[in-house]
Amino acid sequence: MRDFGKIKEYAIDGNTVTIFCEKQKIIVTALTDEIINVFVPTWSDEHRSKAIEAADMERVLAKGAELKISEGKDGSVELTTGALKAVISEGGYVDFYKADGTVLSLEYRGERKSRKVLNMWDVELLKAEGHEVRDTSLDKPVQCVRIVDKNESFYGLGDKTGPLDKRSYEYEDWNSDIPDAHTDQFHALYKSIPFIICRKDEASYGLFYDNTFHGYFDMAKENPEYICFSADNGNLDYYFFGGDTIPGVIGNYTLLTGCAPLPQLWTLGYHQCRWGYASASDIRTIAEKFRELDIPCESVQYDIDYMNGYRVFTWNEKDYGPAGELFTELAQKGFKPVVIIDPGTKREEGYFMFEEGTKNGYFFRTADNSEDYVNAVWPGDSNYPDFGRKEVREWWGDHLKYLMDIGVQGIWDDMNEPASFNGPLPLDVIGHDEERQTTHEELHNVYGHFMAKATYDGIKKHTGKRPLVITRACYSGTQKYSAVWTGDNQSIWEHLRMMIPQLCNLGMSGYPIAGTDIGGFGGDTTPELLCRWIEAAAFSTFFRNHSANGTIFQEPWNFGEEVTDIYRKYVKLHYTFLPYIYDLLHEEQENGLPVMRPLVMHYEKDPIVFNLNDEFLVGEKILVAPVVNPGEMVRKVYLPEGTWYSFWTGEKHEGKRFFLEEAPLDHCPIYIKAGSVLPIYDSVSYVGEKKFDRLTVLATPEGGKMEHYQDNGEDFDYLDGEYNLYEFEVNSEGELSAKILHECKTVEKYDKVRLAVLS
Ligand code: GLC
Repeated sequence: MRDFGKIKEYAIDGNTVTIFCEKQKIIVTALTDEIINVFVPTWSDEHRSKAIEAADMERVLAKGAELKISEGKDGSVELTTGALKAVISEGGYVDFYKADGTVLSLEYRGERKSRKVLNMWDVELLKAEGHEVRDTSLDKPVQCVRIVDKNESFYGLGDKTGPLDKRSYEYEDWNSDIPDAHTDQFHALYKSIPFIICRKDEASYGLFYDNTFHGYFDMAKENPEYICFSADNGNLDYYFFGGDTIPGVIGNYTLLTGCAPLPQLWTLGYHQCRWGYASASDIRTIAEKFRELDIPCESVQYDIDYMNGYRVFTWNEKDYGPAGELFTELAQKGFKPVVIIDPGTKREEGYFMFEEGTKNGYFFRTADNSEDYVNAVWPGDSNYPDFGRKEVREWWGDHLKYLMDIGVQGIWDDMNEPASFNGPLPLDVIGHDEERQTTHEELHNVYGHFMAKATYDGIKKHTGKRPLVITRACYSGTQKYSAVWTGDNQSIWEHLRMMIPQLCNLGMSGYPIAGTDIGGFGGDTTPELLCRWIEAAAFSTFFRNHSANGTIFQEPWNFGEEVTDIYRKYVKLHYTFLPYIYDLLHEEQENGLPVMRPLVMHYEKDPIVFNLNDEFLVGEKILVAPVVNPGEMVRKVYLPEGTWYSFWTGEKHEGKRFFLEEAPLDHCPIYIKAGSVLPIYDSVSYVGEKKFDRLTVLATPEGGKMEHYQDNGEDFDYLDGEYNLYEFEVNSEGELSAKILHECKTVEKYDKVRLAVLS
């Protein structure tokens, strides 16, 4: 229970009100009408946000807020904006309402009570059998407990396991590399995104707890009456988002922490990878097979095997030939090299990264600051670059030039939780947040964030193109620099099923470019699982098959002709919808909304979809109901309100009901919403094979309207107006008309536009 004491006085400064309680001050700022920050500076006087950078804050403040401050009952202070009201009252509690008085979120005033039971005398026996023994103590130094409704549901929190609706689960934010099969009982995975969306009947709202220390989320598990955020250290610094609807809340969160920038078009295509493609000839064989079998592919990615003894920024010439030679050869066939980079830097006299890093003091230091901190990763004993410092990020970014110069086109940042094979990094290891010295305790959850930022800036500087960065670990705001994948999943049906809630929640947490290892990383996939996985993943924005060394080969042709044909069908389907995916990412620059969306995002009054885990939307216009269970040949499909058409047959379905659709192994049920108009390309072997000079406009019989965006798909010229924006309209007679809303000189317009009507 919090008790900051009575409110003594308050002071107003612009849109900020500082409330002085007897024991603690609380600073409340209305950033916009729909974003209010509550800052309880128990640890530092400044926010010290890593997620919200100066440019982000400038963009937010440019929106402005209409603010009225008044004294309420019992000496409380009320801030009322155009949309929200925050009431700060005795004890230091902050309650949120809509401006019209509707309750959104109240602080819980009672005592927390754990429901966990741990008999201390059994602890050793529990441990002896290998069970996890968790700390069941409740109160943490930083804590906020908020009342929730009985049927309130919760989304966001990044890559956490478990169902779409996080209600009744507890999680931790502590970036963790745990290769065991990720189950619903996992508390933490690779990413920490302390943002939740709360959907309730009156309106949805959001909370972003901007704290990088070890964080804890209890989502009404401990007590159905409240949720709780707590952390081991740091400030209580959180943002309350109005916006009424889930898309409105996400829009506010991404306004504050930034949107994922538009990627290069090819990066959205298909990628193949495996830890264990051990030589140039392995990579060449795989690449050629994709072309031979007519399965589109952009890159065969280079895992750690390409490095010389796992030393970052080196090349294994023995197995891969002279650096860059293979790239040039495969570039003729349209392959773009993407390579992995780990942060762990091998300790070895004479190795340039070790020498430079040591001489300049670029690595984490031990707690007593006597030497560089050492732990082990792939290359053995390694140091950890202190990425929180600009100088270190620039050093790292400049070394990327070596890779860019030999032709690398994308960087995959891995092991950046950071992973460590000799036990966890001690919390008191020394690092920096820019020039300020701090400890790993504060930096752990942003290690991947800063590495991704170093990578993005380095690639941009050396190539001038939109950087492809893929990261495993991240924090809120990393979306400005990197796409993500969900790390080491397994070839199990449970992980195919988990892909849907996990990617939907990542999308709602600001990550529109995300994917899973298709087919599963660890363990051996099966022909059926691989088919169902490529079907379910066909609309993924990071679209990659990846498997671990020691498992069976996971390229489709290893499973025979039927699997290869099915695989090809869905990779090609992905390419035909590439312009739609690209349009959605273009819109995301404005609205912050992901490509892959749970149904609840657009049907938030329909209880059937609050926790619907096996279907998803692509934008608002496409609904996918993949088969995610073994042996299932008939799929139970739910279509929400409205009329829908089967993408495959044109069959018309009325929504708000369940029905059965036959789904043999090669069939993934896909529906198009009535009134949709969608852009479609002819499939290609890779982006760049030929010009996309023909556009198909796909419409349902009702007709409708769409905006469609086109640019050079590579660099930043679009920011200077080098793009075309079209408006296509199809009337109910099936006639197509086009308007050009914006045109430019450098991007050629389509030669041919044709209409296809679903029927
Ligand atoms: C980690 C990554 C995985 C990669 C492997 C070897 O386990 O998550 O994707 O293949 O390391 O680099």
